[in-house]
Amino acid sequence: MDKVELLKQQAGIAACKYVNSGMKVGLGTGSTVKYTVIELGRMISEEGMEIVGVPTSLATQKLATEVGIPLVELSDCTHLDIVIDGADEFDPEFNLIKGGGAALLREKIVAQEAKAMVVVADHRKQVDTLGAFPLPIEITPFSFEATIRQLSRLLDCRVNCRMSGDNPVITDNGNYIADAHCGPNLSNPRNTEMEVLKIAGVVQVGLFNEMCDAVILANSDGVELLVNQNGRLAE
Ligand code: A5P
Repeated sequence: MDKVELLKQQAGIAACKYVNSGMKVGLGTGSTVKYTVIELGRMISEEGMEIVGVPTSLATQKLATEVGIPLVELSDCTHLDIVIDGADEFDPEFNLIKGGGAALLREKIVAQEAKAMVVVADHRKQVDTLGAFPLPIEITPFSFEATIRQLSRLLDCRVNCRMSGDNPVITDNGNYIADAHCGPNLSNPRNTEMEVLKIAGVVQVGLFNEMCDAVILANSDGVELLVNQNGRLAE
């Protein structure tokens, strides 16, 4: 396992300390939180922990099923105790860019139902200002070129339709992803989120503002817990 992979694994496993028997747990998507899902599966089979999970993508649904996490529909839950997920970037106010794995819509729906959100990340994700990572925006396939033009005008930057070979990437919800190359200048992500959501054709934007309560951050010195002092896990 290479160095970055090891950091992802450390962060992913460390997050499991927030999960206790009886909890309803939102299961994020990506290469870091996959280690959380695998560890939760181990805790169920080896330690008898009893939880149910709500996956944020078809990929996570598949992995969770493989490792033996009982799954339920979000619609059947009155709430989730916690969601654990990855991020593409987080800023000092714990605002996030997500959607590098194209799962942002389900991730946001699940996160807004959770009583707490814990992000697992390695040090490359920590930034002063969001935006170096191209901002993922889920858009409708209908007239997507027009929506992309609107986004490009609004954000004043290049916006690409995410491709897989010659075809647009299709999300679990049957939509496309536009990636906005804003640059590291999203100093008011709440405002950007609001403005982007006003464009018809936009389904959701990968800005997760005021949702994240803590980041479990892995770097070469080990795993560090960063708690959002304005969040729900603050003492
Ligand atoms: C999925 O759509 C994303 O929001 C991921 O959570 C995010 O891209 C982080 O993924 P990695 O842990 O693979 O970097």
